[in-house]
Amino acid sequence: MTRLTTLADAEAVAHRAALEIARGVDDARGARGVAHLALSGGSTPARTYELLANELADWDAVEVWFADERCVGPEDEQSNYRLARETLLAPAGAPTGQIHRMEGELGPEQGAERYARALRERVAPEDDHDSSPPAGEEPGTSGPAVPALDVIVLGIGPDGHVASLFPGAPTLDADPRMLCLGVHDAPKPPPQRITLSLQVLRAARSCVLLATGAAKADAVAAMLGVPSRHVPAGLLRRGRLSVIVDDAAAPPPPRQRHT
Ligand code: 6PG
Repeated sequence: MTRLTTLADAEAVAHRAALEIARGVDDARGARGVAHLALSGGSTPARTYELLANELADWDAVEVWFADERCVGPEDEQSNYRLARETLLAPAGAPTGQIHRMEGELGPEQGAERYARALRERVAPEDDHDSSPPAGEEPGTSGPAVPALDVIVLGIGPDGHVASLFPGAPTLDADPRMLCLGVHDAPKPPPQRITLSLQVLRAARSCVLLATGAAKADAVAAMLGVPSRHVPAGLLRRGRLSVIVDDAAAPPPPRQRHT
């Protein structure tokens, strides 16, 4: 089951998310000596990143990755890396050698290929990636071993997209061995992007998805409903997913039945 937390406003969402992310990082370091943290872009996580810069004082053994990137250079205003650098990585003093940005300037295919290689080299799959999941949890991935990131921070689009996986897009049906995919026709600008595959999102030990504002309410309700490729966020692995929303983005309470 997805963990859904509803809080009063965007500021409370950011505080809660920063705490959960820092806890996930610490748990991973405690368990395996290293934490692989992946970040998203968009406007929602910026405040979370600012708070996380204070929350996470020690960046020892934290490897920073990205869930997606726009095909622009790292100094471009649209760059997800730039957003993360300005709000989190520079203020926190995260060591640059531990930051693995997607090279948007290489274009969708070459950028995706390079990133997939880096992920495979540096991030281990979970030992039991293809064993039976605990009771009540759906299987994560099957087939080839997929690197297991520890915490992935995600936003959601009003259309239900997550990272740069858009509703009904061919990237949702990609070869399961692909870790990273090039996108050419994203409905959210810019059209050219690089994204982690659904397999990589589902193989993560945890995902923290943030949504604030009334424009996200329908997408949040849809992602918590019956899984469908028309709502990519609903295809995340529910047993490992924490969704943190404000009142405006919260799904409506189930209707009371009158008999
Ligand atoms: C991107 C993202 C994307 C984002 C959502 C939500 O690069 O655009 O990573 O998946 O998280 O579109 O964006 P907002 O927070 O701006 O609504």
